[in-house]
Amino acid sequence: LGKKIIHFDTIDSTNDYAKKIGNEESEGAVIISEEQTKGRGRLGRNWHSNSYEGIWMSIILKPNIVPYKAPFITLIAGASIVEALNKLGVNAKIKWPNDIILNEKKICGILTELSAEIERINHIVLGIGINVKTMEFSQEICDVATSLYKENYIVSRVDIVRNILLEFESLYLEYINNNSKEKVLDICRRHSAIIGKEIYTIRGEEKELVRCLDINEEGNLIIKRNDGSIKEIISGEISIRGI
Ligand code: BTN
Repeated sequence: LGKKIIHFDTIDSTNDYAKKIGNEESEGAVIISEEQTKGRGRLGRNWHSNSYEGIWMSIILKPNIVPYKAPFITLIAGASIVEALNKLGVNAKIKWPNDIILNEKKICGILTELSAEIERINHIVLGIGINVKTMEFSQEICDVATSLYKENYIVSRVDIVRNILLEFESLYLEYINNNSKEKVLDICRRHSAIIGKEIYTIRGEEKELVRCLDINEEGNLIIKRNDGSIKEIISGEISIRGI
């Protein structure tokens, strides 16, 4: 992975570009832009991606797996980012399944987009946005978002990208080739921002306070509801403190 890096000074969205070229480009191509004019977050949200302030990148993947196995790739990405940051001295945690948290605020989001047919994946675009140097966030997100610099971690963007790609490649190949999830699950559990804590599960307008117990062997979240029942959450939104 990362043998081919396509770099832009500015682009609408690295995920949109990767989706356009995904079918022709080979696996592992990385698209990085200094700035995105239409950076996208999950659920149709905007992703603030100012010039030189962060890492805005997308990786094109072409795994030979059935589509239902694709969501685990988001967890592999989260585990790689957290592992890479921790090795650089940054005590980051994962808020299952998409966000990376530092000092209880979000520094990184992952947006995985899948182009697939019934039994076959055409390609996956793995979008990663990391706030590195941003010092000021807009009013809507300033209570819940932060950056590495803002938390006094002065780390080079090149080192972060290099470390993420190295970590990701080894965990990704173990999953694709050997269906092995153990290392990823171990990292996700060790660096979890939510295991053992009270969180909200969100469905539409509905919010429910539950306790997060664990991440199971499939990578799904195990929670305990107020009535004592145990439930497995496969995907969807959860929230801690509005993040
Ligand atoms: C989220 O937390 O909502 C996901 C944010 C993902 C942002 C990244 S930045 C690079 C890539 N291109 C985009 O337009 N979005 C992703």
